[in-house]
Amino acid sequence: MTDKAKLIVDGKTYEYPIIIGTEGEKGIDISSLRKDSGYITFDSGYANTGSCLSSITFLDGEKSILRYRGIPIEELAEKASFIETAYLLIYGHLPTKAELEKYSKAFTDQSMIHEGMKNFFDGYPLSGHPMGILSAMIGSMAGYYPELIKPNPSKEEIDLISVELLAKVRTIAAFAYKKSIGEPYVYPRHDLKYVPNFLNMMFASPSKPYEIKEVVVNALMAIFILHADHEQNCSTSSVRLVGSSLANLFASISAGINALWGPLHGGANQAVIEMLQKIQADGGDIHKYITMAKDKSTKFRLMGFGHRIYKNHDPRAKILKARADALFKELGINDPLLDLAKQLEEIALKDSYFIEKKLYPNVDFYSGIILRAIGIPVNMFPVMFAIGRMPGWIAHWKEMLSDPNIKIGRPRQIYMGNTLNHFVPLEKRE
Ligand code: SDX
Repeated sequence: MTDKAKLIVDGKTYEYPIIIGTEGEKGIDISSLRKDSGYITFDSGYANTGSCLSSITFLDGEKSILRYRGIPIEELAEKASFIETAYLLIYGHLPTKAELEKYSKAFTDQSMIHEGMKNFFDGYPLSGHPMGILSAMIGSMAGYYPELIKPNPSKEEIDLISVELLAKVRTIAAFAYKKSIGEPYVYPRHDLKYVPNFLNMMFASPSKPYEIKEVVVNALMAIFILHADHEQNCSTSSVRLVGSSLANLFASISAGINALWGPLHGGANQAVIEMLQKIQADGGDIHKYITMAKDKSTKFRLMGFGHRIYKNHDPRAKILKARADALFKELGINDPLLDLAKQLEEIALKDSYFIEKKLYPNVDFYSGIILRAIGIPVNMFPVMFAIGRMPGWIAHWKEMLSDPNIKIGRPRQIYMGNTLNHFVPLEKRE
């Protein structure tokens, strides 16, 4: 294999080094292209452009491989806790028993939010989407830790902020939900671990304690683990881009939450349920919606299908489909939307349009079904994604900041607007 790429343009030949990753991915380093040739590349949506070298997550869309620090997500979803997975992503290795106990205790100790933050919930409209309050609250956390928001925080300071974010994101999410349904806040408990604590804050009330079921904890744990990272997706790239200006971690994560909100990204899990409910209300005519999804003029897409990277099945969807079956069986739930989702998947995967375009169910297709069975309201689904993705965002922000050659992200463009023209006084404009 050559170790250089040749580019011939305007009769000149330029050579650029080839970068080869530990899993054989190949890239052409064109860092000096504009200086050498005056040309830039153009790659709408960055589908062919690498923004960084990273050691956090490897995924292979053709082989349906997803590994966090080399460990397959199938093993992590089966054997690890969400806190272990967060530690693995952020620190690069699984925690020892002592490290895990210390990490877990830190989350318990830091799970309360500043009482002053409760006023934010009071002013936020009840009809407001919880992703809006989440991004605002996370961004506002910077106001409570002025000593931590500096351009180059120390390792210890980054550790502190990371624990604050991971510990408090649950409490903010649960408080936003309680506020939206007019129920009193349920505070985090020191005797509960990460996921059960969150479920208790969400569903307990003064009149009715919440019965924590292991099967529900495990289902939500799997969702958090499977969402924990996914290399340079839209929201993680947003965290990196904002962080590259040396903006603090709270501000960078807030940007990631807003990017995740979009229905083409983390908002897809909410859009999947709304789509299934629409199909159900429309008499369950799946073929009608598959036909619409194939007709560009309808602008309708089969939510939960397709992926920029996975051109074979999304390994996370496969795990979540099995988890949904197990959860429903154990809870004795019969949700017609699950049956509808399975029929939709079966019909779509036999349709030439979806086969040719390699559109398979992605992580969002079944996650919403599970969240619904747990009792999470649909508009909180993207918030669940954000809680799960928090470790990945932090890990990438940390990795970027630790790069001695960190540069502010600043893509170029090809200008297609007006050439030189001049100001026309108002009286002369027709
Ligand atoms: C996530 O990047 C990540 O890693 C994201 C994520 C993560 O963990 O962070 O995995 C999480 O965001 C999963 C994706 C959730 N989004 C959805 O389910 C929304 C529906 N899916 C799509 O809109 C779409 O598939 C994307 C956004 C996921 C991927 O879009 P791409 O890679 O830009 O592909 P594209 O829009 O260029 O589509 C390629 C073709 C097009 O047709 P042609 O123009 O070639 O004729 O496939 C079609 C699209 O019209 N197509 C679909 C479709 N998805 C793509 N047609 C119908 N239904 C769909 N869902």
